[in-house]
Amino acid sequence: MPEPLVRMEKISKSFGPVRALQNVDLILHHSEVLGLVGDNGAGKSTLMKILTGVHQPDSGQIYFQGQPVRFNSPHDSRAVGIEMVYQDLALAGNLNVADNIYLGRELTRKRLGGLVRLLDHKAMAEGAARLLERLKIEIHSPTLRVETLSGGQRQAVAVARSVGFEAKVVIMDEPTAALAVKEVAKVLDLIRGLKEHDVAVILISHRMPDIFEVCDRIMVLRQGVKVGDVPREQTCMDEIVALITGAQQEVCMEVA
Ligand SMILES: Nc1ncnc2c1ncn2[C@@H]1O[C@H](COP(=O)(O)OP(=O)(O)OP(=O)(O)O)[C@@H](O)[C@H]1O
Ligand SMILES: [Mg+2]
Repeated sequence: MPEPLVRMEKISKSFGPVRALQNVDLILHHSEVLGLVGDNGAGKSTLMKILTGVHQPDSGQIYFQGQPVRFNSPHDSRAVGIEMVYQDLALAGNLNVADNIYLGRELTRKRLGGLVRLLDHKAMAEGAARLLERLKIEIHSPTLRVETLSGGQRQAVAVARSVGFEAKVVIMDEPTAALAVKEVAKVLDLIRGLKEHDVAVILISHRMPDIFEVCDRIMVLRQGVKVGDVPREQTCMDEIVALITGAQQEVCMEVA
């Protein structure tokens, strides 16, 4: 087996008296879509916040491409290519699609012999259009204002922005929770598109059909403990739901 892209080993984290995670292992292979499921408060978001450097684990180790890493902030995890699409999206509604994609890494051009730098809206619109096309995102124009887009299209812009041009891992926390059926299908297409571009995805969702549609493997957390880790073809929704609720004890086929 080649070295996994991400390996989290024996991660524990408490918030005061709350043991949010206890000795949790996670493996993410190249180009894999991993479903991360569990009841409310199971520790899913906390585990991803540790992977992205938002929180520090109390104990445990993260490896990225085989190397031990320590992410002190989201900036550190972004630097190696781990991107998180946040539940609340955090897009600027009054800006257009291209400006949102380039937010924080704006392209500029020199004017007046280098005396002033102006935002290069044309180059950003062109770059954004190429990125949208590569990710097969259907938005008529990169100059549309984000507040005029549908929920699914906004999600797509958020993904495009986080993928930028070089993400290796994209983490999506409940991307489809607030979307209409048709838009959900597009987000799932987007996830498949990322996989085709060798981007690995971790998808957190309470919607089992979404998980079963796109994920290669499903990992289950229950009250901060990993209780399931199974390839999708070797499980079914009933089993995953039983693992989530505790009706079934534990099935871990992938050993970190
Ligand atoms: N910043 C924090 N401060 C204190 N407690 C926290 C904090 N973040 C998470 N917790 C607690 O840690 C536990 C795990 O929370 P987490 O958000 O990881 O769950 P989750 O699996 O993402 O749940 P959901 O499906 O509801 O989003 C919960 O008991 C939660 O209350
Ligand atoms: Mg959560």
